[in-house]
Amino acid sequence: MANSFHTGYPSMDDLRKKAKSRIPKFAFEYLDGGCNEDVSISRNTKEIREVQLQPRYLRNQGVSSTVTKVMGMEFSAPFGIAPVGLQGLMWPNSPEILAKAAFAHNIPFILSTVTTMNIERASELTEGNAWFQLYNPAEDSLRDDILNRAAAAQCPVLVLLCDVPTFGYRPRDIRNGLALPPKMSLANILQILGKPTWALNTLKYGQPTFETLRPYTPGGLNLKQLGQFMDKTFSGRLNEERIKPIREKWKGKLVLKGVASEQDTQDAIRLGFDGIIVSNHGGRQLDAAESTINSLAGLSGKYGDQIEIMMDSGLRSGPDIARAMATGAKFTFMGRSFLYGCGALGKQGGEHTITMLKTQFKQVMDQLCCERVEDLPKHLIDH
Ligand SMILES: Cc1cc2nc3c(=O)[nH]c(=O)nc-3n(C[C@H](O)[C@H](O)[C@H](O)COP(=O)(O)O)c2cc1C
Repeated sequence: MANSFHTGYPSMDDLRKKAKSRIPKFAFEYLDGGCNEDVSISRNTKEIREVQLQPRYLRNQGVSSTVTKVMGMEFSAPFGIAPVGLQGLMWPNSPEILAKAAFAHNIPFILSTVTTMNIERASELTEGNAWFQLYNPAEDSLRDDILNRAAAAQCPVLVLLCDVPTFGYRPRDIRNGLALPPKMSLANILQILGKPTWALNTLKYGQPTFETLRPYTPGGLNLKQLGQFMDKTFSGRLNEERIKPIREKWKGKLVLKGVASEQDTQDAIRLGFDGIIVSNHGGRQLDAAESTINSLAGLSGKYGDQIEIMMDSGLRSGPDIARAMATGAKFTFMGRSFLYGCGALGKQGGEHTITMLKTQFKQVMDQLCCERVEDLPKHLIDH
């Protein structure tokens, strides 16, 4: 196993617990929570784990390979880092830590429009391999400016988000008065004082801000002002009219993220998307949502030969990745998992989490006697 693996943290649960002890409560809860009563977030993982795989033992097996192709590129494993906003709030400098680790491991890193690193820096750290997730700007000129920057930074894939037509209802964030910069209520100050490594690193790397949006944003917004700015600047609800000019302008691969229905999949195919990410935003938007493994099962067989179908939400381990791939995903992504890694292990968090997931995933492939990732569906037990 690689040096970057810490034997004290062999599971996602270990990383999550350690991260919880090192991140101030308001920031940890922003990362960790779902929405409303947290039904969707737990349903995602619960239903993924109901998927069962069948091994073959009495067979000669060659060396199993985790190499996976998606969007015309080849990666070392079938998982990547999902776009997460405000990463630097959860762990200082975490987008840099994760972009570097993703590049070193040859897995995709998707940069969020609203995270704390800009497009140009993500591209520099990944030698032009970072994917970029776009919140749909309300104004054409802002949209075109951001698209030009993503193209100049050589982003190979643009990911258009469709599942945030409105802000999710998240009781913890409401209670914590989450703001950027964090509101200095006595409770939040005490939480920060109780997490000295986070506090010192925040001093070192500076107040987290929306780096990509810096040229367009007034500084120091609290949650209410941020909401007003986002409402004015970004129009969450996507439609055909908004998508068409983006498809015309963007020469690289285009992916729609947040798909959960046949109708949206059919629209994505018709509008010329190269791929979709079946996702419910990690259970942060609609608490009554279907689990993504269930949505995936309904979509992959029917549309998998017309569009590349990827999936996220609820995956926490190598066996979970194998379950999703066996259910027909072309590729998978995880959001919270990598921030748990950074919260637990700081600079080593990206390396460790990727190494851990790769090791777990490879073990499943070897155990099943599955040599190629694309053969995983043959091991699915279809009840
Ligand atoms: C704290 C947090 C912030 C997120 N911000 C974004 C974002 O800015 N853009 C986006 O497309 N998805 C965002 N997501 C959703 C993730 O890309 C991904 O769909 C989700 O985390 C997958 O679920 P998982 O965390 O269970 O792996 C965010 C998720 C979390 C947990």
